[in-house]
Amino acid sequence: MQTILITGGAGFIGSHLTRLFVTKYPEYKIINLDALTYAGNLANLADIEDKPNYYFVKGNITDMPLLQNIFEEHRVTGVLHCAAESHVDRSITDPLAFVKTNVVGTATLLQVAKQSWNNDFDNKIFYHISTDEVYGSLGGEGFFYETTAYDPRSPYSASKASSDHFVRAFYHTYGLPVKISNCSNNYGPYHFPEKLIPLSINNILHNKPLPIYGKGENIRDWLFVEDHVKAIDIIFHKGKIGETYNIGGHNEWTNIDLIKELCRQMDLKLGRPHGTSAQLITFVKDRAGHDLRYAIDATKLKNELGWEPSLQFEEGLSKTIDWYLNNKEWLNNVVSGHYAAYYDEQYHKR
Ligand code: NAD
Ligand code: DAU
Repeated sequence: MQTILITGGAGFIGSHLTRLFVTKYPEYKIINLDALTYAGNLANLADIEDKPNYYFVKGNITDMPLLQNIFEEHRVTGVLHCAAESHVDRSITDPLAFVKTNVVGTATLLQVAKQSWNNDFDNKIFYHISTDEVYGSLGGEGFFYETTAYDPRSPYSASKASSDHFVRAFYHTYGLPVKISNCSNNYGPYHFPEKLIPLSINNILHNKPLPIYGKGENIRDWLFVEDHVKAIDIIFHKGKIGETYNIGGHNEWTNIDLIKELCRQMDLKLGRPHGTSAQLITFVKDRAGHDLRYAIDATKLKNELGWEPSLQFEEGLSKTIDWYLNNKEWLNNVVSGHYAAYYDEQYHKR
């Protein structure tokens, strides 16, 4: 009997991961610990909340007594650590929030796992879900490998790099059985509309400008979120202890080309004349320290564990748009409340 603690399970990737584990492994007990920040939303899990192997705990990963209770009461054997502050723009405005959750929160979780497992590490796993942004920024050529030196350049990526270092330090110093994966940009259903793709879908629906930072020449490597969580499942069960695995889509797009493709598909789906949505594209002031290019080499994961992305980007984007068009209530709920104030603050000066 495995008891797996998923942190941040009410967020974007965490909710897909929780759904996959709850439904694929009914014999596992899955505990979702989430603080329900602006990014956490229990509606993301409405379809599985009544499953008998699913438990939700509202709480913060920096709360050591709470973590100790959870480990003690539920006899946690595995951790899938997803909880984080995840948006680069917010890290520029409020870096310390990222230190608290991403660095202190991860270190607290590691310490509780170490104490609770008390050197009995058989059949235990502490898996940290991390990002390719720890490797820094690429020029026009090359890829990020598992061996690429860390070079984080935003407060977000610096906090994630720091948390990766703590995870490895607990492995080397105490023998804690850890795994890390560093993934490229995800997209798909339940993505909070502060990030480029869902923000643009929402703006197209409301005929609002599509803010493109700088000249739109920055490049990201996009992966459908369900492919990401399938990779996590494989690494969790078959990956080697102490190892790092890169996960990526081999799918590089400049931001401007991506948004043009999104506009083309949205026009078709909304029955608007071709070119209507693209007229909303607006070039705005660049993000401070904007990383030029991310590109993952995921050969190790393919060769060792046989994982490859299953979806072509155009198809994944189409599925994503359809999901937002069919879930307008979800979208309208998440853009009500604090979202308008956030949006004004981020974009009014640009
Ligand atoms: P998200 O912002 O959508 O969700 C984060 C979740 O963590 C939310 O449910 C939030 O309520 C919860 N949370 C935040 N602070 C918490 C705290 N102190 N205690 C408990 N819960 C807290 O993030 P996401 O995009 O789903 O990213 C999940 C993880 O994957 C993060 O670690 C991120 O760094 C990593 N990642 C994301 C991407 C991506 O493209 N989104 C790519 C690679 C890696
Ligand atoms: O690479 C993995 C990372 O991808 C994750 O670790 C992060 O959690 C996730 O947020 C994402 O980071 P990015 O900064 O790449 O994602 P974002 O959607 O914020 O931006 C994607 C690109 O689009 C980036 O070059 C900035 C640009 N952009 C973004 C927004 C929100 C715009 O041009 N306009 C915008 O309004």
